[in-house]
Amino acid sequence: MYSFDTGVCGGRVINVPRQADFALDLDAIERAAAVSDARVLFLTSPNNPTGNLTPTADIERLLNLPLLVVVDEAYIEFVSNPQASVSSWVGRYENLAVLRTFSKWAGLAGMRIGYGLLPEWLAEQIWKIKQPYNISVAAQAAAVASLADLDYLKANLAQLLAERERLLPQLQAIRFLEPIPSAANFILCRVRGRNAREIKRQLEHQGILVRHYNNSYLRDYIRISIGRPDQSAALLHALRALETDE
Ligand SMILES: Cc1ncc(COP(=O)(O)O)c(C=O)c1O
Repeated sequence: MYSFDTGVCGGRVINVPRQADFALDLDAIERAAAVSDARVLFLTSPNNPTGNLTPTADIERLLNLPLLVVVDEAYIEFVSNPQASVSSWVGRYENLAVLRTFSKWAGLAGMRIGYGLLPEWLAEQIWKIKQPYNISVAAQAAAVASLADLDYLKANLAQLLAERERLLPQLQAIRFLEPIPSAANFILCRVRGRNAREIKRQLEHQGILVRHYNNSYLRDYIRISIGRPDQSAALLHALRALETDE
């Protein structure tokens, strides 16, 4: 969406590929910033779909660049360590903005409700271009209701994190999968010796939807969302059946 919106606004996108382990390539980002007149750097932590966190030390280094650093923390509520977030740095660094959403942790994806933590100078600019229409009344009501029901939502989050930790070793035990430890509500798995798109298709036949990406970086991967224990059981049952097809 960041590249799409940049295009719509007449901007130019410079993609800097991540390293083989999906860590940011800091040197390459710095080189790209030096040879372009890039004004904004978008980072996501935890990242989608890889699930890895960006170390805050990496973000601190990138904040030295002469551009606005936007850190998308859409999945940060799935991280148990509060030190993983850079939200408390907003204001301390005049070139840092943090984006958050109710879509993931509160399950309000269809409501289109989120927020930004912005330095004051940037908030003033955003007000200038904000349309007079607001987020919908339904979205406001849902967000307020979520905040009033934090204990319930936090208990859901705790269950989801426990399920993620329980599922990981079981996915590791599937011969053709190489799951990547995740800080988000999904686990990206490399598919070894089998066609990832075919695995996605076969799971779909069993009523199990996983994500496959049709691009050169992620062609050999599937992304599995964390669900309830009974859903994990159905997934593992289907994956084990596929193992016997080998
Ligand atoms: C990194 C990241 N940011 C933001 C979003 C979407 O957030 P919202 O629903 O608030 O637009 C997603 C959803 O897939 C995402 O993966």
